[in-house]
Amino acid sequence: MNFICPNISAAEGRLFFAGQDVCSLAKEYGTPLYLMDENRIRHNCREYMSAFRSAFGENFRVLYASKANSFKQIYRIVAEEGLGVDVVSCGEILTAHSAGMDMSLSYFHSNNKTDADIAYAMEKGVGCFVADNFEEVRAIDVEAGRRGIRQKILLRLTPGIDTHTYEAVNTGKVDSKFGSAIETGQAEEILLATMALSNIDLAGFHCHVGSMVFAEDVFERSAAVMLRFIGEMHRRHGFVCRELDLGGGYGVRYVETDPYLDIAAKIADVAETVKACCEEEGIDLPKILLEPGRGIVADAGMTVYTVGTVKTIPGYKNYVSIDGGMTDNPRYALYESAYTLFCANRMDEERDFLSDVVGRCCESGDIIQPKVYMPSTIGRGDIVAVCTTGAYNYSMASNYNRLPRPPIVMLRDGESYVAVKRESLEDLLRNDL
Ligand code: LLP
Repeated sequence: MNFICPNISAAEGRLFFAGQDVCSLAKEYGTPLYLMDENRIRHNCREYMSAFRSAFGENFRVLYASKANSFKQIYRIVAEEGLGVDVVSCGEILTAHSAGMDMSLSYFHSNNKTDADIAYAMEKGVGCFVADNFEEVRAIDVEAGRRGIRQKILLRLTPGIDTHTYEAVNTGKVDSKFGSAIETGQAEEILLATMALSNIDLAGFHCHVGSMVFAEDVFERSAAVMLRFIGEMHRRHGFVCRELDLGGGYGVRYVETDPYLDIAAKIADVAETVKACCEEEGIDLPKILLEPGRGIVADAGMTVYTVGTVKTIPGYKNYVSIDGGMTDNPRYALYESAYTLFCANRMDEERDFLSDVVGRCCESGDIIQPKVYMPSTIGRGDIVAVCTTGAYNYSMASNYNRLPRPPIVMLRDGESYVAVKRESLEDLLRNDL
């Protein structure tokens, strides 16, 4: 059986995650339940950190894109592994800050920071703002001036690269809602205007071309476009770029047919392009940053559910209903994302019952995964596990249908602990007057 990731296995008919019996965890903590394998998170962090160290020496920074999964413990773990963080909202800033994160290692993204966001981020000591456009740069300048500080920023640019991943996450094209385009000349205009602002320290540029990227040379192509621009700006305006952030986006394996990405080899290729471009342009190598989100947490996660109804519509299809749904994992509903599922207590049975695994929300689109082969004996009380749910599941969870969000239980060296409590029904009323 293909288990997608080495932290998944089976023994005596039961599914194991991070070496622990998934059914026992379901019993102990209840379902629906998010499990996170702490050792796998650390492994993924180390993979990126060591790939960067061998490619760039110490002249790099890996930022965890915490939109992938944001809760206090995740910031503590990535900080211990030497990563900084990408944050996109006051909520993420607060979570990182209250986890004790060194906020000078945080980069504040988002394409529309309000004045209140900007003030809050400065209050919490965010190290760098990634400004999306000139209006934002100006607003940052005003707030920095008010506080008597010089705020470090990167300018987000669109290199005009199409990643050919799905549209919702394709962000590097010229017509993207994010960033400012190199091609139209806007990037240069903004650079000049920004250089004239006294409360802004423009350290360099950022780009992010998409997510779930497997294509061979996407990062190399965008690095080349960015470095050509940087070279030109150096020659024309004497601008020295100290940091180049290439964004996030490497793909991970959700299903057997997804390829494996060798991160060390990928980063080595990017480094080769970056160094060659710098030489060509006659500029010093800037500090290179990358912002993996999915790559750090996706395969460290698993969601565990209990089966309620199994419905057969003769001549049509079968449904297996579980006690969660699009509220804890909206990714099939939004992007038709593929997942690998198991019936955790029937791992040694044949899988010949073709069914749609669906949630309990009041709409037909509430599908976790269509056309899954499950054991034909599957029924009420069985445990269904969905693999690779560590990214963009908890962070995109909602209370639709007034359903409380599941807890996050961390697995570490044969032990488990709660990192995020299960939301109670009473929690749902906390803001109702
Ligand atoms: N940096 C920036 C500026 C980003 O916008 C993103 C993701 C990342 C880094 C991290 O990308 P990653 O390494 O995780 O691919 N909700 C969608 C994914 C949206 C990604 C948004 N930006 C999903 O569930 O697939």
